[in-house]
Amino acid sequence: MLNEDTPLTPVNKADKLSPDASEKGDLSMPAKVDMDKIVSLCKRRGLIFPSSEIYGGLASCWDYGPMGVELKRNVRDAWWKSIVHERDDVVGLDTSIMMHPGVWTASGHIDSFTDPLLECKSCHLRWRADDIEGQRCPKCDGELTEPRMFNLMFKTSMGPVEEEASTIYLRPETAQGIFVNFDNVITTSRKKLPLGIAQIGKSFRNEITTGNFIFRTREFEHMELEYFVKPGTDEEWLDYWVKERFDWYVKLGIRKENLRLRQHGKDELAHYARDCYDIDYLFPMGWSELEGIANRGDFDLIQHAKHSGKELGYYDAEAGEKYVPYVIEPSAGVDRSVLAFLIDAYDEEEVEGEKRTVLHLNPSLSPIKVAVLPLSRNEKLTPLAKEVFNKLCPNFVTDYDDSQSIGRRYRRQDEIGTPFCVTIDFESLEDKQVTIRERDSLAQIRVPIEKLEKNLEAKLKGEAFNASALWATREK
Ligand code: GAP
Repeated sequence: MLNEDTPLTPVNKADKLSPDASEKGDLSMPAKVDMDKIVSLCKRRGLIFPSSEIYGGLASCWDYGPMGVELKRNVRDAWWKSIVHERDDVVGLDTSIMMHPGVWTASGHIDSFTDPLLECKSCHLRWRADDIEGQRCPKCDGELTEPRMFNLMFKTSMGPVEEEASTIYLRPETAQGIFVNFDNVITTSRKKLPLGIAQIGKSFRNEITTGNFIFRTREFEHMELEYFVKPGTDEEWLDYWVKERFDWYVKLGIRKENLRLRQHGKDELAHYARDCYDIDYLFPMGWSELEGIANRGDFDLIQHAKHSGKELGYYDAEAGEKYVPYVIEPSAGVDRSVLAFLIDAYDEEEVEGEKRTVLHLNPSLSPIKVAVLPLSRNEKLTPLAKEVFNKLCPNFVTDYDDSQSIGRRYRRQDEIGTPFCVTIDFESLEDKQVTIRERDSLAQIRVPIEKLEKNLEAKLKGEAFNASALWATREK
């Protein structure tokens, strides 16, 4: 089904351990870093903390710290830029988390968004039937109940008087907010098909099993595109979006050998899907889903038209025909992408006999772009260092750090993936030049303060960090 220039041959379903192997992963290839190291780095450097930690935490809930919030925002922005801003066939949307309950009946989530659940009669732990081999509880070997279907949507009630309040659900995907607004967008945007509608926002699923840090949580953030096309062109567009999405991860620094495509087997497809590919990443627990790209056909528009009574079609004025569009849906998790970017960037190296931990993040994803580091906390250096910081911070996310030794400060910045450190030393007071140190090569160049911004801007856009060439131009 995929064209010859598709980046990878699709992997068969047989390569997956179980219908949803995402918790344990496919261990056919060992990952290079274990999850504990990532969790520990995230805590140590203010990327991600356990939620409500002072109360002992809350299972599978995580909070993004000062560095994490920047990283997550950068992932979202990179997606939005490539999906919405760099194209003229996609528009954005931001719909409410709580929707009319009829939406979930029409979408099939009330009937079909379920997992088979087993409960241990002794320890009362709950298991997904798919994850259990044999008849006994994996924890205590107790007897298990018969499987029952467990709906993954979180329920709540809307309205101040409990008895009169209606049951509503927290959305389990952002996609439905897009489908129910299809007509609004088509009539107001004056765009023709093919047309995509993109949305980023929180989704909620009462997963039976969670774990592997932020890989599978009950509250997470979706980045979803619903791309509406003419029926008959859908297979072509599915191929197109599989390739686009795969390339997005590679462009942002994920190594190709850590990504693969996997086509869903017919028995594995979601109730709405005609076809689906997963982009899998080699997480520490094995190959697991990073993103799904599905051909949803006309399922959703037909269902919403039927249940709402509102016709949801498209009139192609040029061809003079009317049809219900098919939908191609690339659906990714922000948190799961953050995790993949962190894992892929993580490295431990030896530098001058010392170990350094470094995140080789693509600079566009790095939480901090530039760190301003006076050689020491010194009353002569501080004013110039502050001046440099003030100059840079309106244009780059900049950190100012003058505590501890310069070596330690470099290590701290390496650990959060800061691509450039700018050091102000005593010579800077005389020659008005500063040193830029590059994270990956550790090369250092000296540049005049007045050219610093332009220099950093070019480097952040990918200009080579050619130390010797710049040293040669150093103004003595
Ligand atoms: N609208 C289609 C849809 O939601 P999905 O395969 O269930 O498809 C798409 O989810 C992506 O959302 C997954 O590939 C994953 O990145 C992310 N995702 C799904 N459930 C998640 C969870 N419980 N925790 C974190 N991310 C999740």
